[in-house]
Amino acid sequence: MLRKILKWTGGIIGVLVAAILIFYFTMYIIVNNKRDKTYHVDVRMIDIPTDSASVADGAHIYATKGCGDCHGEDLSGKIFIDDDALGRVIAANLTSGKGGRPAGYSNRDWLLAMRHGLRSDGKPLLIMPSYEYYKMSDHDLGNLIAYVKSVPPVDHELPEHKLGPLGTVLSGLDKLPLIPAEQIDHHHKSRAAVKRGPTAEYGEYLSMSCTGCHKPNLKGGPSPVPGGTPSRDITASGNIGKWSLGEFNKVLRTGKTPDGRQLQNEDMPWRMTEKYTDEEIQAIYLYLKTL
Ligand code: HEC
Ligand code: HEC
Repeated sequence: MLRKILKWTGGIIGVLVAAILIFYFTMYIIVNNKRDKTYHVDVRMIDIPTDSASVADGAHIYATKGCGDCHGEDLSGKIFIDDDALGRVIAANLTSGKGGRPAGYSNRDWLLAMRHGLRSDGKPLLIMPSYEYYKMSDHDLGNLIAYVKSVPPVDHELPEHKLGPLGTVLSGLDKLPLIPAEQIDHHHKSRAAVKRGPTAEYGEYLSMSCTGCHKPNLKGGPSPVPGGTPSRDITASGNIGKWSLGEFNKVLRTGKTPDGRQLQNEDMPWRMTEKYTDEEIQAIYLYLKTL
């Protein structure tokens, strides 16, 4: 009797182990195929200015789009995720120093990264949130690239990406935004320029930077990072409907809410939104109120 039970349990465990291995192997193949896919896109070239006013404007865009959170204040790159289970993801060194962008990195390469989430060879970049940037106007993207190209080289060599077992499974199940190129409309035609000013229209354009976490309808939802704090409804049906412009401004600049909560920069990146101008905050506020 005992032997029979043992034989059965052994059999069941064997089947389970085989099922887990097959599942993992399937996820591994799916993710590798996605990473290995070559995208063929038409890159529309734009002018990249070099004058100092454009470069200064680009520095403001770099600061307010949160590029520095991942690529660093000096643009020399960072180990963005380092976890045995999830894996290791490297935010590239964007300077022309050692370990940085290769010599001959062209304007076309910049546009491939920013508008399509792709490398020079047409393979997808990992994690780089180009889905938040590809709709940027030609004018603003041109200034941003002008700024990044103008910064002094920093020597900083970084290790390679390495996807861990949990990272593989979550990416295979589409629970981790591993490959931004999949979320991009590669035929989108960006506007030449967007008129700046304290208007809801400009606020809608700026709110691109909020949709990755607050979702495209800005009504909040689960964090893009597994286990992260969920975002909140920032349309008129949430607290924005009750807060004055002054109160909203204070939340974006200090993380302190009128009801006495302190938002953590790791959850809600107010160290990024604190760098917005008053006019930009007002524009976003006006837009959110219309939703
Ligand atoms: C959430 C983190 C994150 C943010 C925010 C971010 N990046 Fe990245 N970026 C990455 C990662 C990770 C890579 C490397 C992707 C790879 O090698 O597969 C990358 C790659 C790039 C590349 C391509 C470099 C190459 O090797 O071809 C460029 C260009 C770039 N980022 C520019 C920017 C700019 C400009 C901003 C702000 C508008 C920005 N990134 C914001 C994470 C980020
Ligand atoms: C990296 C993810 C992320 C981005 C990007 C982001 N947010 Fe948030 N935000 C959060 C999270 C998470 C919370 C909830 C934090 C909490 O409850 O402690 C939050 C909370 C808020 C709150 C407080 C809402 C309330 O009712 O308490 C406001 C206002 C807000 N975000 C505005 C914005 C705006 C405007 C943008 C774009 C300019 C933006 N956020 C971009 C993640 C993000």
